[in-house]
Amino acid sequence: MEAIVSSTKATKQLAKKIAEKLKPGDVLALYGDLGSGKTTFTRFLVEALGIKARVQSPTFIIARVYEDDNGAGKENFLRAITKVNHLDLYRLQSKPEVLDLGLLEYFKQPKSITLIEWPELAEDLLPEKTIEIKFEVLAENERKVNVQNLH
Ligand SMILES: Nc1ncnc2c1ncn2[C@@H]1O[C@H](COP(=O)(O)OP(=O)(O)OP(=O)(O)O)[C@@H](O)[C@H]1O
Ligand SMILES: [Mg+2]
Repeated sequence: MEAIVSSTKATKQLAKKIAEKLKPGDVLALYGDLGSGKTTFTRFLVEALGIKARVQSPTFIIARVYEDDNGAGKENFLRAITKVNHLDLYRLQSKPEVLDLGLLEYFKQPKSITLIEWPELAEDLLPEKTIEIKFEVLAENERKVNVQNLH
């Protein structure tokens, strides 16, 4: 699926549409240049899942976890996903570093999904069914978003 989003509002709508199709255990690999909208998309996705948390770029921390057991699920079908792991591998240099981070542990956590910005280093480690989303800057407020493997 490919979409052109001409505003952050359109990105928000797209994130909601995608959020409705997610299942616990899903992994989303977010590709795209600096400023292409990976973190912005993550913020809208977390919101669409009904998880109240402040989503920030995890660049310096590498991993952030957003969890809202009580509030989650109002707009989250079946209340199935109550936790979002948000990783950003931009600062990492090698695959061992990715493993040290405990990447594979995130995938096993119950009721959670995992989003990974700059996932290139982790490619061999990602589940086969990983949902791939590619962001491309077309203009200041316009992005091309390509989504693969979302069923
Ligand atoms: N249609 C759009 N969709 C998403 N973001 C947009 C859009 N139009 C403008 N923007 C802006 O583009 C910027 C995207 O920044 P964001 O931090 O999400 O990028 P990123 O891909 O996570 O970058 P990085 O690789 O540095 O982590 C934000 O300032 C956002 O407001
Ligand atoms: Mg980012």
